[in-house]
Amino acid sequence: MALRTHTCGELRADNAGQIVTLTGWVNAYRDHGHGLVFIDLRDRYGLTQLVFDREDVSPELLDVAAKLRNEDVIAATGVIRVREGAPNPKLSTGKMEVLVSQIQMLAKTDNPPFIPGDEENLPAEETRLRHRYMDLRRPEMQRILAVRHRATKIARDYFDEQGFLEIETPILTRSTPEGARDFLVPSRHQPGQWYALPQSPQLFKQLLMVSGCDRYLQICRCFRDEDPRADRQAEFTQIDCEMSFVDRTLVMEMMEGFVKRLWQEAIGVDVPKIDVLSYQESMDRYGIDRPDRRFGLELVDVSDLAARTEFKVFGDALAKRKGVVKAIRVPGGAKKITRKMVDKYTEFVRLFGAGGVPVVKCNDKGELETGISRFIEPIADELIARLGLEPGDSVLFGADAYSTCTKALGELRLKVGKDLELIDESKWDFVWVIDFPMFEYDEEGGRFQAVHHPFTAPSADQLEAFLAADPGDRDAIEAIVSDGYDIVVNGSEIGGGSVRIHQQAVQQKVFTLLGMSQEEATDKFSFLLEALRFGAPPHGGIAFGLDRLVMHLVGTDNIRDVIAFPKSLTGMDLMTQAPGAVDDAQLEELRVKSTWSPPLPDPVETA
Ligand code: AMO
Repeated sequence: MALRTHTCGELRADNAGQIVTLTGWVNAYRDHGHGLVFIDLRDRYGLTQLVFDREDVSPELLDVAAKLRNEDVIAATGVIRVREGAPNPKLSTGKMEVLVSQIQMLAKTDNPPFIPGDEENLPAEETRLRHRYMDLRRPEMQRILAVRHRATKIARDYFDEQGFLEIETPILTRSTPEGARDFLVPSRHQPGQWYALPQSPQLFKQLLMVSGCDRYLQICRCFRDEDPRADRQAEFTQIDCEMSFVDRTLVMEMMEGFVKRLWQEAIGVDVPKIDVLSYQESMDRYGIDRPDRRFGLELVDVSDLAARTEFKVFGDALAKRKGVVKAIRVPGGAKKITRKMVDKYTEFVRLFGAGGVPVVKCNDKGELETGISRFIEPIADELIARLGLEPGDSVLFGADAYSTCTKALGELRLKVGKDLELIDESKWDFVWVIDFPMFEYDEEGGRFQAVHHPFTAPSADQLEAFLAADPGDRDAIEAIVSDGYDIVVNGSEIGGGSVRIHQQAVQQKVFTLLGMSQEEATDKFSFLLEALRFGAPPHGGIAFGLDRLVMHLVGTDNIRDVIAFPKSLTGMDLMTQAPGAVDDAQLEELRVKSTWSPPLPDPVETA
């Protein structure tokens, strides 16, 4: 026999007179004295108020009720009545209550580490992660899990309707380069050999296109051994897609359809046609390749004006390779940005390699003031016109090589936007970013790196230039644009993909430019290079970060909130205490020997 007749979220005042049995956790307990006890019973579906009234129940039952504590698990039977006290408008069950006549203790709890129902007094995240099964009892966490479930269901439905096949790819595999460190698993059968956990199913999904699968979907776990952050976990989930016989436009249209459907069905938001920005424009205007356009503070190039000043900082910057001077107009900044804040911003931009933030204020008369204004004098009118400066505004400058200047000002723009509360949190800003460079030069390593991954095709109109480019010609290689695309919402990258290379010669050339010898390329990717010789269709795809999608849908900026059992910032599962030590015997079987030894304890001083 079922333990319950209903859940704690479904009964209404209209059910008055019905006898029901509910099961769940004691969420809150209120003893009003005079033999009147109220309990909120909680399950995944909601809360229902139970009443124990001396006038209606036996003293024994009241005695049981009096001993109940938060998080005890009970079954309670009684009759539904319209609430005698004031209704609770926050609850769907807020107009009724159950007058209890029987109660059964299903599990008595020990003193809980915290009370999930007491949202205002939650302990630090560490305690909540340690007792995650308690944390997940919170209605907010249950809501998030349900939204996550809906998001994956909507993805499956949408892509199924579009003819995508869901296909699983291996977890124990070879390294799939996405730019992060691999997690490695030793092989017992092949001593000395290691599997890598997939950073993404990239190569398998491409091979599925070579296999004729035409449209592929997988909601898959990916593993990247990088430091966790607010929007990054070492183990995360992608909605991974690939399509054959497509170009960039077709993939983007298909994926835009999914995003629209997801936002509409999951949270009732209509996403309008998504804007497209080129990488160059995004960098020029926002200093970042994932712009948040919910606020202004755009970067404006004033290099030509700066060149006409005597200001050494500007002169030095312009003398550098690709040197620029850029400016941000901060409306009302003259008052809002204090001296102290400027000092903070100076330190902040130094983190990104910039020297500082020259500032100019526009006074009430519309004249430019402060430290460097005498240098600015000759260009004042043009600067005011170009930036649209009004009395009370201020200007923040960046002056350096293009990449340092845009990066520092791009980060500063976000910081000032947050500090001055300029970001309209009620807005949704979706944007595609396209036309990324194929390669960027790594000054430290002295070689090129792929901006997406090495399987991304050059843009169709650049294929010839790409094949002809001399590996020693840095400018020519840096100028090649790829057929990749990222989708960004409110400044966060929720997905990225590209049209792929489907010709062996092109793939081989990419490997060469990345500094891989023929042998190395064959050793690592012979299966891909081979497959590209046996009839690979043109293909392309994308992967969305499911965790990030859900973060936006539920409105959190902490990725750990949307993962049932996440890792802490030090990469640990605080509940199971993973990672943990293993037996020497296990290591021996795997022919693995650790070179790590525990740090020596601090020497104890003896008298
Ligand atoms: P990429 O590396 O851009 O592309 O990843 C795709 C999307 O996955 C999400 N993501 C992450 N989410 C949480 N934690 C992480 N550590 C993390 N890393 C990435 C982001 C990102 O946009 N194989 C390609 C896709 C393709 O080309 O089709 C890939 O993995 O939302």
